[in-house]
Amino acid sequence: MLYSVNNREGEVMLHPWGLDCRPGTAMSSYRNEYHHAIEHPEAFWAEQAKRIPWTTPPRTILDYDNQGHARWFVDGEMNTCHAALDHHVESGRGEQAAVFWDSPVTGAKRRLSYRELRDQVALFAGALAGLGVTKGDRVVIYMPMVPETLVAMYACARLGAVHSVVFGGFAPHELAVRIEDAEPKVVIAASGGVEVDRVIPYKPIVDEALRTSRHRPDATVILQRDLVHAELGEGNHDWQALVDAAEPAACVPVKATDPLYILYTSGTTGKPKGVVRDNGGHAVALHYSMDTVYGMAPGEVFFSASDVGWVVGHSYIVYAPLLRGCTTLVYEGKPVRTPNAGGFWRLIEEYQVKAFFTAPTAFRAIKKEDPDGEWLAKHDISCLKALFLAGERLDPPTFHWLEDLLAVPVIDHWWQTETGWPIAANLQGLEAMSTKAGSATVPVPGFDVQVLDRDGKRAEANVQGSVVIREPMPPGCLAGIWHDPQRFHAAYMAAFPGYYLTGDGGYFDEDGYLFIMGRTDDVINVAGHRLSTGEMEEVLGAHPAVAECAVIGIHDALKGQLPVGLVIPKDSFSGDEVALEEELIALVREKIGAIACFKQVLVVSRLPKTRSGKILRKLLRHIADGKEYGVPSTIDDPTSLEHVHNAMLERDLGQASEARLV
Ligand code: COA
Ligand code: AMP
Repeated sequence: MLYSVNNREGEVMLHPWGLDCRPGTAMSSYRNEYHHAIEHPEAFWAEQAKRIPWTTPPRTILDYDNQGHARWFVDGEMNTCHAALDHHVESGRGEQAAVFWDSPVTGAKRRLSYRELRDQVALFAGALAGLGVTKGDRVVIYMPMVPETLVAMYACARLGAVHSVVFGGFAPHELAVRIEDAEPKVVIAASGGVEVDRVIPYKPIVDEALRTSRHRPDATVILQRDLVHAELGEGNHDWQALVDAAEPAACVPVKATDPLYILYTSGTTGKPKGVVRDNGGHAVALHYSMDTVYGMAPGEVFFSASDVGWVVGHSYIVYAPLLRGCTTLVYEGKPVRTPNAGGFWRLIEEYQVKAFFTAPTAFRAIKKEDPDGEWLAKHDISCLKALFLAGERLDPPTFHWLEDLLAVPVIDHWWQTETGWPIAANLQGLEAMSTKAGSATVPVPGFDVQVLDRDGKRAEANVQGSVVIREPMPPGCLAGIWHDPQRFHAAYMAAFPGYYLTGDGGYFDEDGYLFIMGRTDDVINVAGHRLSTGEMEEVLGAHPAVAECAVIGIHDALKGQLPVGLVIPKDSFSGDEVALEEELIALVREKIGAIACFKQVLVVSRLPKTRSGKILRKLLRHIADGKEYGVPSTIDDPTSLEHVHNAMLERDLGQASEARLV
């Protein structure tokens, strides 16, 4: 049943859950807060804004840009580094641990108090200032999971500079694309990172990226690590030498709407989107989420096993825990093989973690090696109060396995790089609800989530559609795409005016629980990492022997999805097909990086297309995933389907043997 309430403009809005929420009737804390945030966003967020320190408190709470997109706290001034570090030192939290670093791949561990971290950040900010970095300048950071990465990010924030962290698994070309777009004054890198079985020197990757990039930074700063030494050339500076000579820098107040960072994420084309995050709204939203979503109080330990190169790392390793006065655990290791499947349990016990957050794929990897939880039995994890999962859908088998294994709530929550914090969750700090397998539970206060059909009408309960967020989006969400307002409009705002398009499909059930079922565009999710099939197609299409190609994401039991390329060689191609496939695999690894997990290519002679020439990728996915499929009336050459199906069968691809033409 749908229930109507009046929204802030007095028009009727339908809420998907059926419970009575009229004033004066019994109302749950969740519904109360949700409706308050949607109906009175200015009052709601003005109150939340009081929880962070401002140099100039905002008087204008909500404003809109010329695309109708919300801007928060426009006349407020603050500094994110001050709110996360100096403020806590000044209010008596200086000796508390801000960061625990645990690196099984190097055998190192470190504890940094709030005071130590603040002092290191101030010095490194001084070093950056000495290189000419000032407010508004961009700084690209290419670093592994070490505390210095946090130091570098906070140092930028301290100066009002804009950092752009690039994940260490990306190849030189990807780094170069980001350097060209962000035009940084300085690039900061470590000498290397460690994967399970190998050390990865970063300096050659940075050098290659700078060689091919059209933009030249003024300087490159290198953090030398014991595991690998980087040769320093012209324009290169040693991190430690700079710090030794630096004076500490003070926090520079910035406007709430000034950018804190740019984080590139995959879109539907080859060019990644530079998601811009502001300072004030971001701090307010993350602070609110730590309390309301994660139920964290100051002084408690939060562990997010992601990488600082992803949004989860930005929000819930680097910024949110410290904004809230918690301790963050930085882990340079994997869920398995560093050295075993008990790594997470050890960390939870050793650092007395209260809430833990990772991607479902990490637990699928653990489950494969330790299905009965024998490693868990070796540890006392009674300190843990909740487990949060995101990055991809929490598949019901993994959800049930975790529920059986653990005595704490297992919470699937949904969000994206663009929003920066959860859109839907089971809110542990507000009102814990019962969970439903496959659902991210309910929209978080501030997010007016709706499911629309093709015509922009609200879908009934249990009917799938496009999941959108009605403006105003709450604080903390993307301010735009770096230097590309048109792309922002086209990608997010154009489809349904007044709504932000998430790119995910899904539905609300009759109880108002939200189910996110997958992307409606060419974005795929591999081991919790967001990748663009369009980008991979551009790489394949650039090979001289390839006439046409399609990349699809097929189901994988461990990583959720894996990319598969289908290529048609040019008529002139007379070489060896196996050699071509190997070359194409190597090309994607070289251009995008190992993280693309691109390991399967099929050479075919035809691809199913519509008469207007559009490749029927969804149909290809259905075949590879073993689903039933029909011949669409718009298909140009119906025999192409059988041809592709046979090619997949020959290679025993995915579940193609289960697929049936109906
Ligand atoms: N630097 C360089 N290379 C990296 C890298 C990094 N930071 N991270 C991953 N890679 C490489 C891996 O070594 C691997 O290379 P290979 O093809 O030579 O084996 C490749 O990229 C693919 O990595 P991945 O998909 O991570 O596979 P894996 O087998 O190494 O590990 C999991 C599998 C499930 C354990 C791992 O993906 C994982 O921990 N996932 C959780 C993801 C996550 O936290 N996502 C963030 C959103 S919450
Ligand atoms: P990223 O921007 O890398 O965080 O990836 C965001 C995308 O990951 C979303 O648009 C979803 O497609 C997917 N995603 C993240 N969390 C979930 C979840 N809990 N359930 C389903 N999909 C999710």
